[in-house]
Parts: sequence; C-alpha cells; structure tokens
Amino acid sequence: MSSDRLQGKVAWISGGTSGIGEAAAELFAEEGAAVAIVGRRGELGQEIADRIAKAGGRAIATACDVAKADQVRDSIAKTVEAFGRLDIVVNNAGMAVVQPLDEAEEADWDRIMDVNVKSMYLATKYAMPHLRKAGRSYIVNVGSISSFVGQAGTPIYTTSKHAVLGLSRSIALDFAVDGVRCNCVCPGITDTPMLRGHGEAFGDADAIIANRLKRTPMGVALSPLDVAKSILFFSCEDSAGVTGTSLTIDCGYLTAAEWFTEGKTPFME
Ligand SMILES: NC(=O)c1ccc[n+]([C@@H]2O[C@H](COP(=O)([O-])OP(=O)(O)OC[C@H]3O[C@@H](n4cnc5c(N)ncnc54)[C@H](O)[C@@H]3O)[C@@H](O)[C@H]2O)c1
Repeated sequence: MSSDRLQGKVAWISGGTSGIGEAAAELFAEEGAAVAIVGRRGELGQEIADRIAKAGGRAIATACDVAKADQVRDSIAKTVEAFGRLDIVVNNAGMAVVQPLDEAEEADWDRIMDVNVKSMYLATKYAMPHLRKAGRSYIVNVGSISSFVGQAGTPIYTTSKHAVLGLSRSIALDFAVDGVRCNCVCPGITDTPMLRGHGEAFGDADAIIANRLKRTPMGVALSPLDVAKSILFFSCEDSAGVTGTSLTIDCGYLTAAEWFTEGKTPFME
C-alpha cells in the first residue's frame, strides 16, 4: 500500500521492537520515512532495522527505556544525528499488568505510570526543539479502549490510559502554535504479545481471547497493521486539521453496552 506519504520525514517510534510499534516502523519505512526503532531490546530493534534496510528503507535501532529521561534524551539525539531532523513521534511503548490495587506495591504503580504516561512527557519534552524546527510535525500517542472504560484486573493500566487522553489534548493545545499536531489512537483487542500475556495472566490464553472476541461485533482481533494504519493517518497530512482528538479502532467493542457474537462474521475469513 506504499504511497510515499512520509517521504523525507523522520519518525521516532517507541516500542518499535514488537506488536503495533513494529508494524508501524515497517509501514512508515514503506511510506518513505526514516525510522528510529526505540525499545529496551537493542538487538531486536537492530534485526528489524536490518530487515527494513534490506527492503530498501532507512532505519536505526536505539536501545532505550522510555521511562528514563536520560535514555529518551539520548535516543532522540541519536535519531537526529543519524537522519538530520525529526518530524514524527509515536509514543507506543506500553505495559499492562493484571493486578488488583490491594495487591499492587507502590513500585508497581510508579513503573506502569512511568512507562505508559511519563514516557510521553519525556519524549515530547526532548523532541520538541526538533519538532518545532520541522515546521509541521506530529505526535501520536497510543491509548486504548481502556482510555474510555474500566477493565477488570488492570486498574493501574486503565488509569494510565485515561491519562494518555488528557495528556494528548494538552499537548495539542500547547504546541499548535509550533506546528505540532497531537492525536491519540485507542486500539481494542489487538493480536500482539501483550494480548497473549494478558490472556495468560487470567488462565487459558486461547480460551480467554476467544471469549473476549465474542464481545466485539466484528468478532475478530485487530492486526498490528490495522492499528499502524491509523497511526500513519495521524502522522501525515491525510489528517490535516485534526488535533487533540482520538480515534478508537476496536472492531466495534465500545459501540455496544452488551454484545455476544455467535457464529462467523465475514471479518473472520
Ligand atoms: N494489544 C492490545 O490488545 C492493545 C490494546 C490497546 C492498547 N494497546 C497498546 O498498544 C501499545 C503497543 O502494545 P502491543 O500490543 O504492540 O504490545 P507489545 O508487548 O507487543 O509491544 C509493546 C512494546 O513496548 C515496549 N516497551 C515496554 N516497556 C518499555 C520500556 N520501558 N521502554 C521501551 N520500550 C518498552 C516493549 O518492549 C514492546 O516493544 C501499548 O501502549 C499498549 O498499551 C495494546
């Protein structure tokens, strides 16, 4: 589907070593962007960067814990050093832990909020001088359907994803004057290692995921590429004029107060 939407642009994508972030890195490279794949696992990021280079794209890997200010600062600096500019920040890295509040330690709260929310503040702070210079630039934050509703067993994650929406709106307001648009994509059930981990925490992952999918009118999980396409929309002029908003991509999950999909839908084929 390549159409050179991002020709000449540089994108910094956190959590680019897996799932939605990996799909976004590959899609952005196909669309002409030079991509920084940001994650704690530098070797894995390098494998993805090599794959992109082999396909004719431009990519680097930068090892970075997005909750650590000095590492985020250095990762952004390395990106600008490699490619000479920065136009797009995708704050996608995130973690979810299944844990009721009365069993969570203070350190659990701090870690999840740091990885899922503080990381977005840090990336915005250190990227802003470069985003201003780019003229028109883009921040895309990854929220969740948990940005809008509660989900059993993940109170800290749900709190963090609600915060992502407020933060995205605030960034949109404060930096419009600098040519920065900031929007939020809110995925539903997406087939990534995080989904599997979440299922395993409740027991039989396959059974739990299959059961959850009956709650969506389309009856299927999103692919990482489905979500990456919406991230792309907010990272280019296809979404001109849109800032401070969110796009829910959830196979209809939040549309229904109650739902039970029986049998097959065409989306399953
Ligand atoms: N999979 C789903 O069903 C789903 C639903 C809604 C929202 N999301 C959100 O989508 C985003 C991507 O998740 P995914 O499903 O692709 O999961 P994933 O586990 O495949 O990917 C998450 C990525 O974030 C990285 N990461 C985690 N902590 C990090 C840290 N401290 N520093 C740097 N990188 C770190 C991981 O290494 C990984 O690359 C997350 O923000 C998640 O909350 C996922």
